[in-house]
Amino acid sequence: MPVPNVYEAMSTLRAVRRLKPDPIPTDVLGRVLQAAAWAPTGGNAQPWRIVLATDPKPKAALGALYAESWKTFAKGYAARFATLPEADRAREMRTLAAGDYLAEHFHEAPAIAVFCFNPKLMAITDEKLDRVSVVGGGSIYTAVQNLMLACRAEGLGCVLTTLLCIHEEKVREILAIPQPWGTAAAIPMGYPIARGHGPIRRRAAQQLVYANSWGTALE
Ligand SMILES: Cc1cc2nc3c(=O)[nH]c(=O)nc-3n(C[C@H](O)[C@H](O)[C@H](O)COP(=O)(O)O)c2cc1C
Repeated sequence: MPVPNVYEAMSTLRAVRRLKPDPIPTDVLGRVLQAAAWAPTGGNAQPWRIVLATDPKPKAALGALYAESWKTFAKGYAARFATLPEADRAREMRTLAAGDYLAEHFHEAPAIAVFCFNPKLMAITDEKLDRVSVVGGGSIYTAVQNLMLACRAEGLGCVLTTLLCIHEEKVREILAIPQPWGTAAAIPMGYPIARGHGPIRRRAAQQLVYANSWGTALE
């Protein structure tokens, strides 16, 4: 399998929610985890750890929790799509079906990377502002994205999930995560059942980037 260049990898890194239970070879997993470790973090502190769940027991417990969260989250979703144009509704329904599939099979992914972070190791420069703080996440999700890009390069499917964070206390118990470590994401990884990564739908940079002042279109 040819390794995609970085642009190909970024532009085809879509959520892959249908994963085979087949094991991931140790050398492949090693490379993917090393890619996470290469990520930049504030002050180079690397204030994150991964607990890699590969044993059936922790995966089953995480899967049950995920299914519970998904059920609550997905409730009423289909009804909200009712007013969309047909093509959009069909697309959203396909995503919903993929979400259902993931919720039912979460525990079958051969490896689930649970990203943990320690806020005490972070310089969170926006924590005193009167809005939600996001800077701390910048020292975690760089590693998450590196891991996912490496999955893409290795032909592994994966999806960034955060629904387990709702049950952080239970996740901490399942994986023996000590205080003050929190959880930021859980990435199920495995070989895709269908096509896996492929085309993505995103706004063009021109719609997201301004020139010199807010709202000024880039030439
Ligand atoms: C912060 C974040 C949280 C997400 N949480 C979940 C999740 O809990 N479950 C899930 O199935 N997908 C989750 N996703 C995946 C997104 O739904 C997905 O990336 C987005 O809809 C774009 O889909 P695409 O990558 O297939 O184009 C999450 C993505 C991000 C960036």
